[in-house]
Amino acid sequence: MLAATGHAVPKRVFTNHDFASIGIETSDEWIRERTGIGQRYIAGEGENLTTLCTEAAKVAMQRAGVTASELDAIVLGTASPDRLLPSTAVEVQAALGASRAVAFDLDAACSGWLYSAQVAEGLMATGTFETILVIGGEVLSRIINWKDRNTCVLFGDGAGATVMKRSTRGRGILSAYMRSDGTLADLLHRPKGAGNAPVTPEIILEGSHYIQMAGREVFKNAVRSMADAADRALDGAKLSATDIDLLIPHQANIRIIEATAKHANIPMEKVFVNVDRYGNTSAASIPIALSEAHEKGLIKDGTTVMFVAFGAGFTWGSMVVRF
Ligand code: ACO
Repeated sequence: MLAATGHAVPKRVFTNHDFASIGIETSDEWIRERTGIGQRYIAGEGENLTTLCTEAAKVAMQRAGVTASELDAIVLGTASPDRLLPSTAVEVQAALGASRAVAFDLDAACSGWLYSAQVAEGLMATGTFETILVIGGEVLSRIINWKDRNTCVLFGDGAGATVMKRSTRGRGILSAYMRSDGTLADLLHRPKGAGNAPVTPEIILEGSHYIQMAGREVFKNAVRSMADAADRALDGAKLSATDIDLLIPHQANIRIIEATAKHANIPMEKVFVNVDRYGNTSAASIPIALSEAHEKGLIKDGTTVMFVAFGAGFTWGSMVVRF
């Protein structure tokens, strides 16, 4: 079960109006109309994925009443690690002093936290893991092309952390669903700059080590896949839409969120939306939203929440959780 959640964001707020100051031809109206985004947080000096994830983890652990030495594992969903080797999860382990925990990253892009939570549930089912820290975190500002208005207006930085413990009967994860389709990988990717095409001055000049996206194709696939994931979530849990108290979808774009809610027959009053303040924080988006939902008192004993995610890969999935 998800015992407690916390989140952390960088200090700096970057509004839609701020793009003018870096020479990007766009407008608040264009961005809001197509995405619902009004601002995002951007990491500055001294802030990175490790610091954000560690801060979020400390909040979640304090709320759960769990100490670092009690952690059996740290699973960190991210597509923007601090270093390509080793994982950011081991850096977080060291920063927390969680010496007993096994720590590893999981790359499922925007579905990173959802995949990580389901992997953690599987680890607990083995009987050897009791308390697992599941984090979704990104510092996407360091892997987007700040000269490409097709992508740079969409993303933000942040981290959300969840302490997971073994569930008691009838509580915890009621249904879990994960899918991937690697045949569509090139629609949203970083073409070069890693093992397949190690960094060269030419790659840096052309910016092909940054995120590139075919926006319209991604949009269509996101709507289709999140609808599929919502259906599977309800089927798996043997519930109907009216049984869901709160839908927490991946916060990519308000139009994708609205289409998912409509397909699932869940009214927008029951949908948690914060994309306007954070932008798309990829793997961090769902745990940040969950943490805010907790803080707003929207999650009580017995509340049933549906999570739906979609990301590069493509990867997608869902979960129904009873708190
Ligand atoms: N400001 C102003 N104009 C812009 C901007 C911008 N920031 N970006 C693109 N445009 C222009 C384009 O150049 C184009 O102009 P042209 O017709 O003269 O060439 C015009 O706006 C229309 O561009 P489209 O790409 O057709 O715009 P669209 O309505 O599809 O909206 C958007 C683009 C918002 C990216 C949309 O496709 C989308 O939301 N896609 C989903 C992508 C997404 O959410 N990805 C996140 C990662 S995946 C995930 O998290 C699930």
